Amino acid sequence: MDKFKIQGGTPLSGELPVSGSKNAALPVLAACLLTDEPVILHRIPQVKDIGTMQSLLEYAGAKVTQDGGNVTVHAKTLDRPEAPYEVVKTMRASSLVLGPLVARTGRARVSMPGGCAIGARPINMHVSALEHLGATIEQSHGYVEAQAPSGLRGGSIHFDRITVTGTEDLLMAAVLAKGQTIIRNAAREPEVKDVADLLIKMGAKIEGAGTSIIKVQGVEKLHGAEHTIIADRIEAGTFLLAGALSQGDVLVTNLVPEHVGSLIMKMEQAGAELDDSQPGALRVRCLRRPKAVDITTEEYPGFPTDLQAQYMSWMTVAQGISFITETIFENRFMHTQELARMGANIRIEGRQAIVAGEDTLSGAQVIASDLRASASLVLAALVAKGETIVDRVYHIDRGYEKIEEKLAAVGARIQRVQDAATSQTQQAGGEE
Ligand code: EPU
Repeated sequence: MDKFKIQGGTPLSGELPVSGSKNAALPVLAACLLTDEPVILHRIPQVKDIGTMQSLLEYAGAKVTQDGGNVTVHAKTLDRPEAPYEVVKTMRASSLVLGPLVARTGRARVSMPGGCAIGARPINMHVSALEHLGATIEQSHGYVEAQAPSGLRGGSIHFDRITVTGTEDLLMAAVLAKGQTIIRNAAREPEVKDVADLLIKMGAKIEGAGTSIIKVQGVEKLHGAEHTIIADRIEAGTFLLAGALSQGDVLVTNLVPEHVGSLIMKMEQAGAELDDSQPGALRVRCLRRPKAVDITTEEYPGFPTDLQAQYMSWMTVAQGISFITETIFENRFMHTQELARMGANIRIEGRQAIVAGEDTLSGAQVIASDLRASASLVLAALVAKGETIVDRVYHIDRGYEKIEEKLAAVGARIQRVQDAATSQTQQAGGEE
Protein backbone atom coordinates (compact mmCIF):
# COMPACT_ATOMS: atom_id res chain seq x y z
CA MET A 1 0.00 0.00 0.00
CA ASP A 2 1.46 3.38 -0.93
CA LYS A 3 2.25 5.86 1.78
CA PHE A 4 3.36 9.46 1.75
CA LYS A 5 6.41 10.43 3.75
CA ILE A 6 6.29 14.16 4.46
CA GLN A 7 8.76 16.43 6.24
CA GLY A 8 6.92 19.49 7.49
CA GLY A 9 8.00 23.06 7.91
CA THR A 10 8.76 24.28 4.39
CA PRO A 11 6.67 27.22 3.19
CA LEU A 12 5.33 26.43 -0.29
CA SER A 13 6.28 28.81 -3.04
CA GLY A 14 5.50 28.80 -6.76
CA GLU A 15 2.70 27.74 -9.07
CA LEU A 16 0.15 25.01 -8.45
CA PRO A 17 -1.93 24.16 -11.55
CA VAL A 18 -5.42 22.76 -11.04
CA SER A 19 -6.65 19.73 -13.02
CA GLY A 20 -10.08 19.09 -14.50
CA SER A 21 -12.85 18.43 -12.00
CA LYS A 22 -13.32 14.82 -10.94
CA ASN A 23 -16.91 15.45 -9.86
CA ALA A 24 -17.76 17.10 -13.19
CA ALA A 25 -15.93 14.48 -15.27
CA LEU A 26 -17.86 11.61 -13.65
CA PRO A 27 -21.38 12.71 -14.76
CA VAL A 28 -19.99 14.01 -18.05
CA LEU A 29 -18.60 10.55 -18.83
CA ALA A 30 -21.95 8.99 -17.87
CA ALA A 31 -23.71 11.47 -20.19
CA CYS A 32 -21.79 9.99 -23.14
CA LEU A 33 -24.04 6.93 -22.81
CA LEU A 34 -26.95 9.03 -24.08
CA THR A 35 -25.84 9.09 -27.72
CA ASP A 36 -24.71 6.54 -30.30
CA GLU A 37 -22.21 9.07 -31.67
CA PRO A 38 -18.69 9.75 -30.31
CA VAL A 39 -18.24 12.38 -27.59
CA ILE A 40 -14.80 13.95 -27.28
CA LEU A 41 -13.76 15.19 -23.86
CA HIS A 42 -10.76 17.22 -22.75
CA ARG A 43 -9.14 17.87 -19.40
CA ILE A 44 -10.37 14.62 -17.89
CA PRO A 45 -8.30 14.20 -14.72
CA GLN A 46 -6.31 10.99 -14.56
CA VAL A 47 -7.46 9.79 -11.16
CA LYS A 48 -8.66 6.41 -9.98
CA ASP A 49 -12.40 7.22 -9.91
CA ILE A 50 -12.30 8.28 -13.54
CA GLY A 51 -10.71 4.96 -14.50
CA THR A 52 -13.52 3.23 -12.62
CA MET A 53 -16.20 5.20 -14.49
CA GLN A 54 -14.49 4.45 -17.81
CA SER A 55 -14.59 0.71 -17.04
CA LEU A 56 -18.26 1.03 -16.21
CA LEU A 57 -18.96 2.59 -19.62
CA GLU A 58 -16.97 -0.19 -21.30
CA TYR A 59 -18.85 -2.81 -19.30
CA ALA A 60 -22.12 -1.45 -20.70
CA GLY A 61 -20.74 -1.67 -24.25
CA ALA A 62 -19.15 1.73 -24.97
CA LYS A 63 -15.74 2.11 -26.58
CA VAL A 64 -13.46 4.40 -24.59
CA THR A 65 -10.19 5.69 -25.98
CA GLN A 66 -7.81 7.82 -23.99
CA ASP A 67 -4.80 9.96 -24.74
CA GLY A 68 -3.78 11.68 -21.51
CA GLY A 69 -6.61 13.99 -20.48
CA ASN A 70 -8.37 13.58 -23.85
CA VAL A 71 -11.00 10.88 -23.77
CA THR A 72 -13.41 9.78 -26.51
CA VAL A 73 -16.45 7.73 -25.63
CA HIS A 74 -18.43 6.01 -28.35
CA ALA A 75 -21.52 4.27 -27.02
CA LYS A 76 -22.73 3.02 -30.42
CA THR A 77 -24.61 0.13 -28.88
CA LEU A 78 -25.18 -0.72 -25.24
CA ASP A 79 -25.64 -4.47 -24.95
CA ARG A 80 -25.26 -4.68 -21.21
CA PRO A 81 -26.91 -1.69 -19.44
CA GLU A 82 -25.61 -2.72 -16.04
CA ALA A 83 -23.35 -1.52 -13.26
CA PRO A 84 -22.09 -4.54 -11.31
CA TYR A 85 -21.50 -4.65 -7.57
CA GLU A 86 -17.74 -5.16 -8.02
CA VAL A 87 -17.49 -1.70 -9.55
CA VAL A 88 -20.18 0.14 -7.60
CA LYS A 89 -18.72 -0.94 -4.28
CA THR A 90 -15.50 0.88 -5.15
CA MET A 91 -17.22 4.09 -6.28
CA ARG A 92 -20.62 5.36 -5.20
CA ALA A 93 -20.84 7.75 -8.13
CA SER A 94 -21.45 4.64 -10.29
CA SER A 95 -25.15 5.32 -9.65
CA LEU A 96 -24.73 8.15 -12.19
CA VAL A 97 -25.20 5.63 -15.00
CA LEU A 98 -28.71 4.70 -13.84
CA GLY A 99 -30.47 7.70 -15.45
CA PRO A 100 -28.58 7.64 -18.77
CA LEU A 101 -28.89 3.85 -19.20
CA VAL A 102 -32.64 3.71 -18.62
CA ALA A 103 -33.20 6.80 -20.80
CA ARG A 104 -31.19 5.41 -23.70
CA THR A 105 -31.99 1.67 -23.56
CA GLY A 106 -35.25 1.49 -21.59
CA ARG A 107 -33.63 -0.60 -18.88
CA ALA A 108 -30.83 -0.49 -16.35
CA ARG A 109 -29.54 -2.75 -13.63
CA VAL A 110 -27.32 -0.98 -11.16
CA SER A 111 -25.96 -2.31 -7.90
CA MET A 112 -27.06 -0.40 -4.80
CA PRO A 113 -24.10 1.39 -3.26
CA GLY A 114 -23.45 0.46 0.33
CA GLY A 115 -22.57 2.80 3.16
CA CYS A 116 -19.22 4.53 3.02
CA ALA A 117 -16.76 6.18 5.34
CA ILE A 118 -18.52 9.54 5.36
CA GLY A 119 -22.08 8.35 5.93
CA ALA A 120 -24.95 6.12 4.81
CA ARG A 121 -25.55 7.97 1.51
CA PRO A 122 -28.61 6.26 0.07
CA ILE A 123 -29.82 6.78 -3.53
CA ASN A 124 -33.54 6.83 -2.67
CA MET A 125 -33.99 10.28 -4.24
CA HIS A 126 -32.44 9.14 -7.55
CA VAL A 127 -34.84 6.20 -7.57
CA SER A 128 -38.03 8.09 -6.73
CA ALA A 129 -37.22 10.83 -9.26
CA LEU A 130 -36.81 8.25 -12.04
CA GLU A 131 -40.09 6.60 -10.99
CA HIS A 132 -41.66 10.00 -11.39
CA LEU A 133 -40.50 9.99 -15.01
CA GLY A 134 -42.33 6.70 -15.53
CA ALA A 135 -39.61 4.12 -14.85
CA THR A 136 -40.69 0.98 -13.04
CA ILE A 137 -38.12 0.26 -10.40
CA GLU A 138 -37.57 -2.85 -8.37
CA GLN A 139 -34.94 -3.31 -5.75
CA SER A 140 -33.83 -6.87 -5.09
CA HIS A 141 -30.66 -8.86 -4.44
CA GLY A 142 -28.79 -5.60 -3.85
CA TYR A 143 -29.63 -4.21 -7.30
CA VAL A 144 -31.89 -1.46 -8.60
CA GLU A 145 -33.61 -2.64 -11.76
CA ALA A 146 -35.26 0.07 -13.81
CA GLN A 147 -37.53 -0.54 -16.79
CA ALA A 148 -39.09 1.96 -19.16
CA PRO A 149 -39.71 -0.07 -22.34
CA SER A 150 -41.64 2.67 -24.08
CA GLY A 151 -39.38 5.45 -22.86
CA LEU A 152 -39.53 7.95 -20.02
CA ARG A 153 -41.99 10.85 -19.87
CA GLY A 154 -41.40 14.30 -18.44
CA GLY A 155 -42.61 15.18 -14.94
CA SER A 156 -42.30 17.67 -12.14
CA ILE A 157 -39.86 16.71 -9.39
CA HIS A 158 -39.17 18.49 -6.14
CA PHE A 159 -36.18 16.97 -4.35
CA ASP A 160 -36.69 16.59 -0.58
CA ARG A 161 -33.16 17.78 -0.08
CA ILE A 162 -30.44 18.94 -2.40
CA THR A 163 -28.55 16.08 -4.02
CA VAL A 164 -25.71 16.68 -6.47
CA THR A 165 -25.49 13.33 -8.28
CA GLY A 166 -29.27 12.88 -7.86
CA THR A 167 -29.83 16.11 -9.83
CA GLU A 168 -27.31 15.02 -12.47
CA ASP A 169 -28.81 11.54 -12.78
CA LEU A 170 -32.31 12.90 -13.24
CA LEU A 171 -31.16 15.59 -15.66
CA MET A 172 -29.49 12.97 -17.83
CA ALA A 173 -32.69 10.90 -17.82
CA ALA A 174 -34.96 13.88 -18.54
CA VAL A 175 -33.15 14.99 -21.70
CA LEU A 176 -34.50 11.95 -23.61
CA ALA A 177 -37.93 11.82 -21.86
CA LYS A 178 -41.08 12.77 -23.77
CA GLY A 179 -42.26 16.28 -22.85
CA GLN A 180 -41.14 18.70 -20.18
CA THR A 181 -39.41 17.96 -16.87
CA ILE A 182 -39.08 20.52 -14.11
CA ILE A 183 -36.55 19.84 -11.34
CA ARG A 184 -37.10 21.93 -8.20
CA ASN A 185 -34.64 22.18 -5.30
CA ALA A 186 -31.97 21.16 -7.80
CA ALA A 187 -28.30 21.24 -6.83
CA ARG A 188 -26.61 24.43 -8.03
CA GLU A 189 -23.07 23.07 -8.03
CA PRO A 190 -20.85 24.10 -11.00
CA GLU A 191 -20.50 20.39 -11.81
CA VAL A 192 -24.26 20.19 -12.54
CA LYS A 193 -23.92 23.18 -14.85
CA ASP A 194 -20.95 21.53 -16.59
CA VAL A 195 -22.83 18.34 -17.40
CA ALA A 196 -25.79 20.45 -18.59
CA ASP A 197 -23.43 22.42 -20.84
CA LEU A 198 -22.25 19.19 -22.47
CA LEU A 199 -25.84 17.92 -22.83
CA ILE A 200 -26.84 21.17 -24.54
CA LYS A 201 -23.93 20.73 -26.98
CA MET A 202 -25.29 17.23 -27.63
CA GLY A 203 -28.67 18.72 -28.59
CA ALA A 204 -30.53 18.69 -25.25
CA LYS A 205 -32.92 21.51 -24.35
CA ILE A 206 -32.12 22.63 -20.81
CA GLU A 207 -32.73 25.92 -19.02
CA GLY A 208 -31.71 26.97 -15.55
CA ALA A 209 -28.81 24.58 -14.82
CA GLY A 210 -26.79 26.15 -12.01
CA THR A 211 -30.00 27.46 -10.38
CA SER A 212 -32.41 25.59 -8.14
CA ILE A 213 -35.04 25.19 -10.89
CA ILE A 214 -34.02 23.32 -14.02
CA LYS A 215 -36.37 22.94 -16.99
CA VAL A 216 -35.80 20.27 -19.58
CA GLN A 217 -37.67 19.79 -22.82
CA GLY A 218 -37.05 16.21 -23.88
CA VAL A 219 -35.69 15.49 -27.37
CA GLU A 220 -35.80 12.27 -29.36
CA LYS A 221 -32.08 11.84 -29.91
CA LEU A 222 -28.76 13.39 -28.87
CA HIS A 223 -25.67 13.63 -31.03
CA GLY A 224 -21.91 13.67 -30.52
CA ALA A 225 -20.10 16.74 -29.15
CA GLU A 226 -16.79 18.03 -27.83
CA HIS A 227 -16.35 19.42 -24.33
CA THR A 228 -13.66 20.59 -21.91
CA ILE A 229 -14.25 19.85 -18.22
CA ILE A 230 -14.25 22.73 -15.72
CA ALA A 231 -11.45 23.17 -13.20
CA ASP A 232 -11.63 21.16 -10.00
CA ARG A 233 -12.75 23.68 -7.37
CA ILE A 234 -12.01 21.25 -4.54
CA GLU A 235 -8.45 20.65 -5.70
CA ALA A 236 -8.12 24.43 -6.11
CA GLY A 237 -9.37 24.99 -2.55
CA THR A 238 -7.04 22.29 -1.23
CA PHE A 239 -4.08 24.07 -2.86
CA LEU A 240 -5.11 27.49 -1.54
CA LEU A 241 -5.27 26.02 1.95
CA ALA A 242 -1.93 24.25 1.46
CA GLY A 243 -0.32 27.58 0.54
CA ALA A 244 -1.79 29.33 3.58
CA LEU A 245 -1.15 26.50 6.01
CA SER A 246 2.51 26.23 5.04
CA GLN A 247 2.79 30.02 5.54
CA GLY A 248 3.86 30.25 1.94
CA ASP A 249 3.18 32.23 -1.21
CA VAL A 250 1.50 30.22 -3.93
CA LEU A 251 -0.16 30.97 -7.26
CA VAL A 252 -2.97 28.53 -7.92
CA THR A 253 -3.66 28.51 -11.67
CA ASN A 254 -6.27 27.15 -14.14
CA LEU A 255 -9.15 27.71 -11.73
CA VAL A 256 -12.43 29.61 -11.66
CA PRO A 257 -12.14 31.99 -8.65
CA GLU A 258 -15.95 32.37 -8.30
CA HIS A 259 -16.20 28.62 -7.68
CA VAL A 260 -14.20 28.98 -4.47
CA GLY A 261 -15.90 32.20 -3.34
CA SER A 262 -17.05 30.88 0.06
CA LEU A 263 -13.55 29.62 0.86
CA ILE A 264 -11.87 32.88 -0.21
CA MET A 265 -14.15 34.84 2.14
CA LYS A 266 -13.24 32.64 5.13
CA MET A 267 -9.54 32.62 4.28
CA GLU A 268 -9.46 36.40 4.11
CA GLN A 269 -11.27 36.67 7.44
CA ALA A 270 -8.66 34.34 8.92
CA GLY A 271 -5.85 36.57 7.69
CA ALA A 272 -4.71 35.13 4.35
CA GLU A 273 -4.12 37.54 1.47
CA LEU A 274 -5.76 36.50 -1.77
CA ASP A 275 -5.06 38.26 -5.03
CA ASP A 276 -7.24 37.61 -8.09
CA SER A 277 -5.62 40.16 -10.41
CA GLN A 278 -4.42 37.46 -12.81
CA PRO A 279 -7.30 35.91 -14.80
CA GLY A 280 -8.01 32.27 -13.97
CA ALA A 281 -5.58 32.30 -11.05
CA LEU A 282 -5.46 33.13 -7.34
CA ARG A 283 -2.36 34.02 -5.41
CA VAL A 284 -2.44 33.18 -1.73
CA ARG A 285 -0.06 34.51 0.89
CA CYS A 286 -0.24 33.97 4.59
CA LEU A 287 2.97 34.51 6.48
CA ARG A 288 1.60 33.89 9.96
CA ARG A 289 -0.81 31.68 11.88
CA PRO A 290 -4.46 32.29 10.93
CA LYS A 291 -7.14 33.70 13.22
CA ALA A 292 -9.79 31.16 14.16
CA VAL A 293 -12.83 31.53 11.88
CA ASP A 294 -15.93 29.29 12.02
CA ILE A 295 -17.43 27.51 9.03
CA THR A 296 -20.65 25.60 8.37
CA THR A 297 -20.77 23.33 5.34
CA GLU A 298 -23.62 23.88 2.94
CA GLU A 299 -24.61 23.10 -0.60
CA TYR A 300 -23.10 25.35 -3.28
CA PRO A 301 -22.57 28.28 -3.14
CA GLY A 302 -22.07 27.67 0.59
CA PHE A 303 -18.86 26.29 2.10
CA PRO A 304 -18.23 22.86 0.49
CA THR A 305 -18.24 19.76 2.64
CA ASP A 306 -15.41 18.53 0.39
CA LEU A 307 -13.13 21.25 1.85
CA GLN A 308 -14.18 20.92 5.47
CA ALA A 309 -11.38 18.53 6.47
CA GLN A 310 -8.65 20.56 4.73
CA TYR A 311 -9.92 23.79 6.29
CA MET A 312 -9.93 22.11 9.69
CA SER A 313 -6.23 21.28 9.28
CA TRP A 314 -5.56 25.00 8.89
CA MET A 315 -7.64 25.83 11.96
CA THR A 316 -5.68 23.35 14.12
CA VAL A 317 -2.85 25.90 14.11
CA ALA A 318 -5.07 29.01 14.34
CA GLN A 319 -5.03 31.59 17.09
CA GLY A 320 -8.24 30.97 19.00
CA ILE A 321 -11.12 28.50 18.86
CA SER A 322 -13.11 27.72 15.73
CA PHE A 323 -16.42 25.89 15.34
CA ILE A 324 -16.68 23.68 12.28
CA THR A 325 -20.19 22.44 11.56
CA GLU A 326 -20.85 19.66 9.05
CA THR A 327 -24.42 19.64 7.74
CA ILE A 328 -24.16 17.49 4.59
CA PHE A 329 -22.78 14.15 5.82
CA GLU A 330 -23.34 12.60 9.23
CA ASN A 331 -19.89 11.05 9.62
CA ARG A 332 -17.36 13.32 8.04
CA PHE A 333 -15.06 13.92 10.99
CA MET A 334 -12.89 10.80 10.64
CA HIS A 335 -9.81 12.96 10.09
CA THR A 336 -10.10 14.52 13.54
CA GLN A 337 -8.75 11.44 15.34
CA GLU A 338 -5.73 11.39 13.05
CA LEU A 339 -5.18 15.14 13.37
CA ALA A 340 -5.29 14.65 17.14
CA ARG A 341 -2.40 12.18 16.76
CA MET A 342 -0.46 15.08 15.29
CA GLY A 343 -1.18 17.25 18.30
CA ALA A 344 -4.41 18.95 17.20
CA ASN A 345 -6.90 19.86 19.91
CA ILE A 346 -10.36 19.00 18.59
CA ARG A 347 -13.56 18.08 20.40
CA ILE A 348 -16.55 16.65 18.54
CA GLU A 349 -20.06 17.46 19.69
CA GLY A 350 -22.56 15.90 17.31
CA ARG A 351 -22.17 17.62 13.95
CA GLN A 352 -19.78 20.22 15.29
CA ALA A 353 -16.02 20.08 15.75
CA ILE A 354 -14.56 22.56 18.20
CA VAL A 355 -10.97 23.24 17.27
CA ALA A 356 -8.65 24.99 19.73
CA GLY A 357 -5.66 26.22 17.74
CA GLU A 358 -2.21 25.04 18.81
CA ASP A 359 1.13 26.76 18.15
CA THR A 360 2.22 23.86 16.03
CA LEU A 361 1.57 20.22 15.10
CA SER A 362 4.03 17.36 15.31
CA GLY A 363 4.63 14.71 12.66
CA ALA A 364 3.14 11.27 13.31
CA GLN A 365 1.98 8.10 11.57
CA VAL A 366 -1.59 8.58 10.41
CA ILE A 367 -4.13 6.72 8.32
CA ALA A 368 -6.29 8.19 5.56
CA SER A 369 -9.96 7.18 5.87
CA ASP A 370 -11.44 8.82 2.77
CA LEU A 371 -10.46 11.10 -0.07
CA ARG A 372 -10.78 14.53 1.54
CA ALA A 373 -9.65 13.28 4.95
CA SER A 374 -6.41 12.15 3.34
CA ALA A 375 -5.92 15.56 1.78
CA SER A 376 -6.36 17.14 5.21
CA LEU A 377 -3.64 14.91 6.65
CA VAL A 378 -1.23 15.78 3.85
CA LEU A 379 -1.90 19.46 4.52
CA ALA A 380 -1.39 19.11 8.26
CA ALA A 381 1.88 17.26 7.59
CA LEU A 382 3.16 20.24 5.59
CA VAL A 383 3.18 22.37 8.72
CA ALA A 384 3.92 19.70 11.36
CA LYS A 385 7.34 19.50 12.95
CA GLY A 386 9.28 16.45 11.78
CA GLU A 387 8.12 13.51 9.69
CA THR A 388 4.56 12.37 9.00
CA ILE A 389 3.68 9.10 7.31
CA VAL A 390 0.24 9.11 5.72
CA ASP A 391 -0.91 5.55 5.15
CA ARG A 392 -3.55 4.32 2.65
CA VAL A 393 -3.02 7.09 0.14
CA TYR A 394 -5.03 5.12 -2.41
CA HIS A 395 -7.87 7.24 -1.06
CA ILE A 396 -6.16 10.42 -2.25
CA ASP A 397 -5.35 8.84 -5.63
CA ARG A 398 -9.10 8.51 -6.24
CA GLY A 399 -9.51 12.23 -6.65
CA TYR A 400 -6.22 14.17 -6.80
CA GLU A 401 -4.05 13.98 -9.90
CA LYS A 402 -0.38 13.50 -8.98
CA ILE A 403 -0.77 15.51 -5.79
CA GLU A 404 2.68 14.63 -4.46
CA GLU A 405 4.36 15.75 -7.69
CA LYS A 406 2.45 19.03 -7.71
CA LEU A 407 3.23 19.77 -4.06
CA ALA A 408 6.90 18.76 -4.44
CA ALA A 409 7.21 21.20 -7.35
CA VAL A 410 6.39 24.09 -4.98
CA GLY A 411 8.83 22.97 -2.31
CA ALA A 412 6.97 20.40 -0.22
CA ARG A 413 9.18 17.58 1.02
CA ILE A 414 6.83 14.76 0.11
CA GLN A 415 7.64 11.35 -1.21
CA ARG A 416 5.54 8.35 -2.21
CA VAL A 417 6.81 5.11 -0.77
CA GLN A 418 5.51 1.68 -1.58
CA ASP A 419 5.18 -1.16 0.81
CA ALA A 420 5.44 -4.11 -1.59
CA ALA A 421 4.05 -6.64 0.89
CA THR A 422 0.68 -4.96 1.06
CA SER A 423 0.38 -3.46 -2.41
CA GLN A 424 -2.00 -6.25 -3.47
CA THR A 425 -4.61 -5.22 -0.93
CA GLN A 426 -4.74 -1.56 -1.74
CA GLN A 427 -7.89 -1.78 -3.86
CA ALA A 428 -9.90 -3.24 -1.02
CA GLY A 429 -10.50 -0.16 1.09
CA GLY A 430 -13.60 1.94 1.64
CA GLU A 431 -14.76 4.62 -0.73
CA GLU A 432 -16.47 7.94 -0.75
N1 EPU B 1 -28.93 11.74 0.06
C1 EPU B 1 -30.02 10.97 0.38
N2 EPU B 1 -30.66 10.29 -0.63
C2 EPU B 1 -30.25 10.34 -1.93
C3 EPU B 1 -29.13 11.14 -2.26
C4 EPU B 1 -28.49 11.83 -1.24
O1 EPU B 1 -30.42 10.90 1.52
O2 EPU B 1 -30.88 9.71 -2.80
C5 EPU B 1 -28.25 12.51 1.11
C6 EPU B 1 -26.79 12.07 1.30
O3 EPU B 1 -26.68 10.95 2.14
C7 EPU B 1 -26.17 13.32 1.87
C8 EPU B 1 -26.94 14.45 1.17
O4 EPU B 1 -28.15 13.86 0.70
O5 EPU B 1 -26.38 13.39 3.23
C9 EPU B 1 -26.23 15.11 0.00
O6 EPU B 1 -25.66 14.12 -0.82
P1 EPU B 1 -25.45 14.29 -2.39
O7 EPU B 1 -26.38 13.37 -3.09
O8 EPU B 1 -25.48 15.73 -2.75
O9 EPU B 1 -23.97 13.73 -2.52
P2 EPU B 1 -23.42 12.93 -3.75
O10 EPU B 1 -24.09 13.41 -4.97
O11 EPU B 1 -23.43 11.47 -3.45
C10 EPU B 1 -21.52 14.58 -4.41
C11 EPU B 1 -20.02 14.52 -4.56
C12 EPU B 1 -19.38 14.39 -3.20
C13 EPU B 1 -19.78 15.62 -2.38
C14 EPU B 1 -21.31 15.72 -2.30
C15 EPU B 1 -21.79 16.98 -1.59
C16 EPU B 1 -19.77 13.50 -6.73
C17 EPU B 1 -19.35 12.33 -7.54
N3 EPU B 1 -19.69 13.38 -5.40
O12 EPU B 1 -21.90 13.37 -3.77
O13 EPU B 1 -17.98 14.39 -3.40
O14 EPU B 1 -19.26 15.52 -1.09
O15 EPU B 1 -21.86 15.72 -3.63
O16 EPU B 1 -21.31 18.11 -2.21
O17 EPU B 1 -20.12 14.54 -7.28
C18 EPU B 1 -15.74 13.92 -2.89
O18 EPU B 1 -15.44 14.33 -4.03
O19 EPU B 1 -14.89 13.70 -1.99
C19 EPU B 1 -17.13 13.67 -2.58
C20 EPU B 1 -17.52 12.88 -1.58
